Amino acid sequence: MKLGVCYYPEHWPESQWESDARRMAFAGISQVRIAEFAWAKIEPEPGTLSWDWLDRAIDTLARHGLKLVLGTPTATPPRWLVDQHPDILAVDAAGNTRIFGSRRHYCFSSEAYFAASKRIVTLMAERYGNHPAVIAWQTDNEYGCHDTIVSYSSEARRRFRQWLQARYGDIAALNKAWGNDFWSMDYQRFEQIEPPINLPTFVNPIHGLDYRRFASDEAVRYNRMQVEILRKHSPGRDVLHNFMAFFTEFEHNDMAKDLDAASWDSYPLGNTDSASYLNDAEKLAYARTGHPDISAFNHDLYRGLGRGRWWVMEQQPGPVNWADWNPAPLPGMVRAWSWEAFAHGAEVVSYFRWRQCPFAQEQMHAGLNTPDDRLDIGGHEAAQVAREIAQLAGQADTADISAPARVALVFDYETQWMLRITPQGKDFDYIGLCMAWYGAARRLGHDVDIVSRHADLSAYALVLVPSLARMDEGFVNRAAASGAQLVFGPRSGNKTRDFAIPAQLPPGPLANLLPLRVWRVDAMRPGLVSAVLDATGAHLGEASRWRDYAEAGAGTEVLARFDDGHPALLRKGASRYLAGWLDNAGLDTVIGAAARDAGLATERLPEGLRLRRRGRVQFAINYGPQTASVPAPAGTAFLLGARELPVTGVAAWLVD
Ligand code: GAL
Repeated sequence: MKLGVCYYPEHWPESQWESDARRMAFAGISQVRIAEFAWAKIEPEPGTLSWDWLDRAIDTLARHGLKLVLGTPTATPPRWLVDQHPDILAVDAAGNTRIFGSRRHYCFSSEAYFAASKRIVTLMAERYGNHPAVIAWQTDNEYGCHDTIVSYSSEARRRFRQWLQARYGDIAALNKAWGNDFWSMDYQRFEQIEPPINLPTFVNPIHGLDYRRFASDEAVRYNRMQVEILRKHSPGRDVLHNFMAFFTEFEHNDMAKDLDAASWDSYPLGNTDSASYLNDAEKLAYARTGHPDISAFNHDLYRGLGRGRWWVMEQQPGPVNWADWNPAPLPGMVRAWSWEAFAHGAEVVSYFRWRQCPFAQEQMHAGLNTPDDRLDIGGHEAAQVAREIAQLAGQADTADISAPARVALVFDYETQWMLRITPQGKDFDYIGLCMAWYGAARRLGHDVDIVSRHADLSAYALVLVPSLARMDEGFVNRAAASGAQLVFGPRSGNKTRDFAIPAQLPPGPLANLLPLRVWRVDAMRPGLVSAVLDATGAHLGEASRWRDYAEAGAGTEVLARFDDGHPALLRKGASRYLAGWLDNAGLDTVIGAAARDAGLATERLPEGLRLRRRGRVQFAINYGPQTASVPAPAGTAFLLGARELPVTGVAAWLVD
C-alpha cells in the first residue's frame, strides 16, 4: 500500500522543486506522476527537444527517494503540430472540427498523429526508460475524457470502411447483417458507407454499433502502439493507463489486456454530483462524503480489469472544479476514500494534485496544498494515511489481497452501447441499473467482483447480471456450470450480435437454462409504476422505467407478479429473471433471497456503512448519515477505529 501524488514541475518555479520533493517524502508519499501534459515544454518547436528541465525535475524528486511514474504527453498535441497537420484534429458528431486550446483535440484515426505520437513516446522512453527512479509509465491521459473517443474525421471514415471490409468480407454480407432491405439502405461498395452522422432520422442500430466498435478498436490500437514502445525501451516497468469512472465509450477489457495493471481516477464528490442515476435527495445526502458505492464500484471494476493489480492514479484531494456543484468534502473523507481504495486491494493511491494551481483551467481545483503552499486538509489526511499504513503493516500482512469475493456482477460495455443507441425509455440508464444491483449487494454486506461476460464464473456463489443485451451460449453455459445462484435483469438476451431481436425472442439462449419468452416490452415514463407482489400477495417493491412482459416456459415458476398479474420474477433451479426495473427495497429482497440460497451470510448494514475485505483485514467505512456500529465479533481488537464508527470513520480488524 503506497501513496503517490500528481505533480507538474512545469507549473512552478524551479526554486520550489527541492522543497516540494522534501515535503512529499516527509508526508509519506513514495511516488510521483509527472509529465503527462508536457509535450510543448519537452518539444517547444518541431525537432527542438528540451529535456534539461525534465532531467532536473526527475533528479530532484529521485534525490529525495521518490519514484517516478512518467506520463506520455500525447493528450496535449502542441500548437505547432496542429499547424503542421491540421488533420490530426477530431471531428465531433455535429461535424465540427475540434480546435486547439485545451486538451484531447486529436483523432485516434489520424495517421499523422499516430506517427507523431510514436515519435514522442519513443524519444521519451529512450531518454528515461532505464532511469533507476522510473518505476512505471502512464500512457496518454484518460482516453475519451471530454467525449473524445468517437471522431467523424475523413480519416476515421476511411479507416471505418476498411474495418467493415475486414469484418464482413463482402458487401452482400454486410447488407444482410445490417438488414439493409429496410428503407432501401443497400450498398454496392464499402466506399459508399459513411459514419453515422447527419442522417435525417434514426441511425440503423447496427450501423451505429459498428461505428462504436470501430472507434473502440481505434483507441485500443493507438494505446497498444504506445505500450509496445514503452516495453521495448523501458523493460521491467509497469505500463498503466488512467481510466475514468463509469466511462464506457471503448471496450476497456480489450485495452486492459495490453497493460500490466489498471488504474483509474477517483473523484467521489464530482462523480456523485454528476451521476445521472441519482436523484437530488441522494446527491444531497452524500454531497460531502460521496455516494458509498460509486468509488467502490469502480475499484471493483478496475481490480478485475487489472487482473488483480490496480491503482488509484488520481484521488480527489478537496473540492474539484468540474461538476455542477463542487462542495468541500467533510474533514476525514480524503482519508476515508484512501482506505476504501486500499480495502478494495489498491496497490497505490495517488492524489491529484500536489498543489492547487492558481492559473488556467483548473485554478478552482484543490490540491494537497493551497496555492500559497500550506498543507490543506487533504494534505494532512494523506500524511495521516501514510502513518496508518505503517501502523497497519506492523500488525497484518497488508500485501495480501487474496480474499476472493463470492459475488460477481457482470458489467458489459457493449450492452451500454446498445442501450444508448436504442434506449426505448429515456431513463433506462445501464450504469444506474448496475449501480442499483451492486448497491443492493453492498448494503447486504457482500464483497463484489465486477467481471466481464468472458470471465470464469466458477469461484462465485452468486452471479448478478443486471442486464446483458447479447446473451451467447458460451456465457449461458459458463454461468450454469458455475453452480452459482444466477439473477438476470430486464432486457437480458434481447439482441443478437448484429443488433436484431433473436429469432426465438428474448432472452435468447438464456431460455435454454431458464425457459421464458419476453413477448412485449414496456418503457414507462416517470410516474408510470407497477407494484410487484410475491406469491402470498405481499408487496415486494415497485417497478418503474421498464417492464418485460414475460411468459413462463416449461419448468419455470413465477415467484412474483406485477399488479396486473404478469410475471415479475421467474425462477428455474438456481436461475432467476427479474422482468422489470425494481426499486432498492425490492432489489434488497430479491438479491438477498438469492444470496441466502447461495449460502452467503446476508444482513442489511446500517445506512451509509459499507464493508470490504483485503486479505485477512476487514474494513468498514461510514459514509453517514450518523454514527454506526460495525458488525465485528464481540471482543474484536481493532487495528483502526472502533466498533462505534462516526461519520467518515474507518475501522479495520482481522478476520480468519
Ligand atoms: C482528471 C484529469 C486530470 C485533471 C482532473 C481534475 O480527469 O486526468 O488531468 O483534469 O481530472 O479533476
